[in-house]
Amino acid sequence: MKKKIYITTPIYYPNDIPHIGHGYTTLAADILARWNKINGNDVFFLTGTDEHGKKIEATAERVGKTPKEFVDSLVPKFKDAWKKLNVDYDKFIRTTDKEHEKVVQQILQKVFDNGDLYLGEYEGFYCTGCEAYYTEKDLEDGRCPIHKTKIEKLREKSYFFKLSKYQDKLLKLYRENPEFILPKKRAKEVINRVKEGLNDLSISRTSFDWGIELPFDKKHIAYVWFDALLNYYSGAKKGFWPANVHFIGKDILWFHAVYWPAILMSVGIELPKKIFAHGWWTFDKEKISKSRGKVINIDELISIAGVDSARYFLFRATPFGEDGDFSEQALIDRHNNELADKLGNLVSRVSALVEKYGFEKTENKLIKKLNAKKIEELFEGYEFDKVLNEIFAFIDICNEYVQNKKPWETGDKKILYELKESILEIAKLLWPFIPESSEKITKQFSAKKIKKGEVLFKKI
Ligand code: MSP
Repeated sequence: MKKKIYITTPIYYPNDIPHIGHGYTTLAADILARWNKINGNDVFFLTGTDEHGKKIEATAERVGKTPKEFVDSLVPKFKDAWKKLNVDYDKFIRTTDKEHEKVVQQILQKVFDNGDLYLGEYEGFYCTGCEAYYTEKDLEDGRCPIHKTKIEKLREKSYFFKLSKYQDKLLKLYRENPEFILPKKRAKEVINRVKEGLNDLSISRTSFDWGIELPFDKKHIAYVWFDALLNYYSGAKKGFWPANVHFIGKDILWFHAVYWPAILMSVGIELPKKIFAHGWWTFDKEKISKSRGKVINIDELISIAGVDSARYFLFRATPFGEDGDFSEQALIDRHNNELADKLGNLVSRVSALVEKYGFEKTENKLIKKLNAKKIEELFEGYEFDKVLNEIFAFIDICNEYVQNKKPWETGDKKILYELKESILEIAKLLWPFIPESSEKITKQFSAKKIKKGEVLFKKI
């Protein structure tokens, strides 16, 4: 049965061009979206940019632009990067979209009307880099634990959301929906912290104005995370809420697993089904950091061995929930040893043989060695690396089949038929990961006259 599937990425801060970390989540969503399309589901895939807040305002000021001019100059870089990576999203939301701003104000009003907001004074620490509040004990020598920058002490009037009130409801949610936060090992940390107790959340600011005004008190603008999280709801295509899964990085799990469901509970909107927090990439074993030159942007990523090899590497090298280390050499090795030597080789040998001998329809016994059920289960659990392992195990089987049956000696058309059909199935299963190459293979092997084509993956 055709299902409605709604998949999201975080919306990115457009304060610099996108890098591999942004690409990673966006590609994961693309892979899952494509997998669902293969299965005939009705997919809606949302991505976008998170454009308000102090961080954007400050960066814009540094380059002498208004915040809006600044974000307008960066948004095309994100769209362009996704195009180059072959990311086929359905909608790109910007938090400066009027439609989004309207929804945020409506929800703020609702939360206010139902008594979950009160005016108070916030006194504490705020890291603009994280756009997050910290307590003294979170800091390291008065510095942000993530950015290591000196942290601002804030004291300003602010509206507070009664997050503390939702502690029990959240714990019940995690208990009754053990798959709400994934991977499960990350859920534990969140649950333990929620058990320790929740402070009410400051959701408005008065010391700058790049944001959405609170409809009931125009001196205040909404806290950027309150604004940003609502994108998932304001950007949803009609009939697609709740989201099936929000893909995010582990660093922003707390916002998604605690603030987000609490806000939705407050206004009585259905909760998303799953939140999956993936790991972080390091670059040559170091934290990706612009200041130290350890950053790899999307153009650089693609230039190493092409789009498909980049997409393939990111999801084959490391399980989706784990941290991974990126290195150019590791990507090239996988390009050469797996895409070129295994997949490329199979495609080129079989196409050449079919061109020479043709094929004859028969029962495809070879394909029975492909564990389709397992692949489906692995996809549903977002175990993309294991999906690829399964497919490549089958590619190995096909290569051995060619080797053992020696169709170049026998000219056996039935063997060639089995191989051709198996390759078409491989191309279909690989389409979410390497769409461009898969489409080439499909076209080549569905043609009336199958020919040995150009080399798919040139060795580097
Ligand atoms: N704007 C917020 C998200 C709001 S969602 C309602 C934000 N933006 S971000 O641009 O800073 O980061 C977005 C995503 O990129 C996060 O999921 C983060 O985990 C991911 N990554 C940033 N660097 C990364 C790596 N080095 N490796 C993997 N993912 C990384 O946070």
